[in-house]
Amino acid sequence: MSANGYQPLLLKNAHRPDSATLAAYRESGGYRALERALKEMTPEQVVEEVKASGLRGRGGAGFPTGMKWSFMPKGSGEKYLVLNADESEPGTFKDRLLMEEDPHLVLEGFLIGCYAVGCRHGFIYMRGEFVRPTRILLKAVEEARAAGMVGKNILGTGFDCEITLYRGAGAYICGEETALLESLEGKRGMPRLKPPFPAQVGLYGKPTSVNNVETIANIPLIVEMGPSWYANLGRPKNTGPKLYCVSGHVRRPGVYEFPLGIPLKELLFEHAGGMLREDRPLKAVIPGGSSVPILPAAQCDVLMDFDSLAAAGTMLGSAGVIVMDDSVCIVEALLNLARFYAHESCGQCTPCREGTGWYVQILERLERGEGNSSDLDLLLDLSDRIQGNTICPLGDAVAMPVRSYVTAFRDEFQHHVTHKKCLAKPAPVPV
Ligand SMILES: Cc1cc2nc3c(=O)[nH]c(=O)nc-3n(C[C@H](O)[C@H](O)[C@H](O)COP(=O)(O)O)c2cc1C
Ligand code: SF4
Repeated sequence: MSANGYQPLLLKNAHRPDSATLAAYRESGGYRALERALKEMTPEQVVEEVKASGLRGRGGAGFPTGMKWSFMPKGSGEKYLVLNADESEPGTFKDRLLMEEDPHLVLEGFLIGCYAVGCRHGFIYMRGEFVRPTRILLKAVEEARAAGMVGKNILGTGFDCEITLYRGAGAYICGEETALLESLEGKRGMPRLKPPFPAQVGLYGKPTSVNNVETIANIPLIVEMGPSWYANLGRPKNTGPKLYCVSGHVRRPGVYEFPLGIPLKELLFEHAGGMLREDRPLKAVIPGGSSVPILPAAQCDVLMDFDSLAAAGTMLGSAGVIVMDDSVCIVEALLNLARFYAHESCGQCTPCREGTGWYVQILERLERGEGNSSDLDLLLDLSDRIQGNTICPLGDAVAMPVRSYVTAFRDEFQHHVTHKKCLAKPAPVPV
C-alpha cells in the first residue's frame, strides 16, 4: 500500500494560522460529531461505533479503545475519563502538535468520550513542560464553555461535563496510566499494581478510562463519518489514520499523517526526504519510540502498523520513528537510552531500580574501552531478569531495547571490547 495522495484527517487544520480557534474549527465542520453523539446517539451506541471502527489506542499498547470503554461499569455512579497528555516518550511529539494546532479536535473527542463512558468531570493530565499546549488548550476549553459545550446542559441536551486540566511536574513515569492517576490524586507518581485495573478502581477509587490524546482525536472522525468508513482506512485490525513522528538522520524530520500500515521505507525515503547525508547509509530505525526493539537496516522492509511490527519483533509503540545513519555508535546510543530509563525509574521495584543502574555502569565501561566479553551476556542476562518482573512496563521498555541492540549489533559491542574503541565513524561536525 502506498500512501501517496492521502489527504490528512487529523492534521487537516494543522497548518492554518488560526487553526486553534473555535471559528476555524467550526468552519471545517468541527463539533458536528459532538452534536450528533449527544442528540442522536446513546452513550452505548457511541461505544459500539468506536468498537466497530477498530480504533486501537495510540498511546503505546494499541489496546482497542471501544473495548476499553466497554469495561467501564454502566449506571449513574461517578466515573472518570482522563486524557493522557503527558507525552514524554523519547522521539514522540505528535500529541503536542495536535494540542497546539487543533485543540478543539482534541476537546471534541474528549467530550464525546466523557459522554460515552458516563463521565461528568473529565481530567486532562498535561506534561509539566508543555507550557504552550497548556495555554492553548485552556483557551479552547474556555471558548467551548462560552459556546455552551463545556459545563452544564451541553448544547441543551441535559449532559453536564466539567473539565479540569492538571499539569504534571515532568516525570516520564507519570505517563504510565496508574502513576498518572496517583499524581493526579496529589501523590507521588508511582505505578499501581494491577489488578484492579483503572476501569474498576481508578481515579479517587472510581472507575476510570485513561486515553491518549491522539486516540481521542480520532473519535470525532468515527462519529461523523461512521465506523465502516473509518475501518476502511489502514489495514485489517490496524485501522484509521496515524501520526508518525520522524526524527534523526533524515532530511525532513516532522510529524507525518498516513493510514496505519504505510511502508516504513516509503515514510522515510519518499515523505521524510531520505537520509540526511548522501554518503551515510541507513544503519537502524527505532520504529515506535525509545521503548521498543531496534530494527537494523536490513529489517526495515516493514509496514508501520501494530501487527506488522509485532511480527517483525518490535512494536509500533508511540510511532516515534528515530532514524540512525552509520555515524551512530550503537553502544553510545544504548548508553544514552539506559541513562534515561535509570533516571526515570520510580525505584519501586528492585529489578528496574537496580537493573537500569547496572545497564548504565556496564555500558559506560564498554564506552570507556574497559569492558570485557562477558559484559555482553551480562546485559542480556539483566534483560531476562527485568522483563516481566516489574510492577509496570517501564522495566520491559528498557529490557527489550537492550536485548535487541546487543543481539542485532553484537559485533559492534564486541569491537568495543576487543579494540577498546568504536566501529562507527562519526560524521564531521558541520561548521
Ligand atoms: C513508562 C510509561 C510511559 C507512558 N507514557 C505515556 C504517555 O506519555 N502518553 C500516553 O498516552 N501513554 C503513555 N503510556 C501508556 C499509558 O500507560 C496508557 O496505556 C495509555 O495512556 C492508554 O491510552 P490509549 O489506550 O489511548 O493508548 C506510558 C506507559 C508507560 C509504561
Ligand atoms: S518498573 Fe520501574 S518505573 Fe515501573 S514501578 Fe517498577 S521501578 Fe517503578
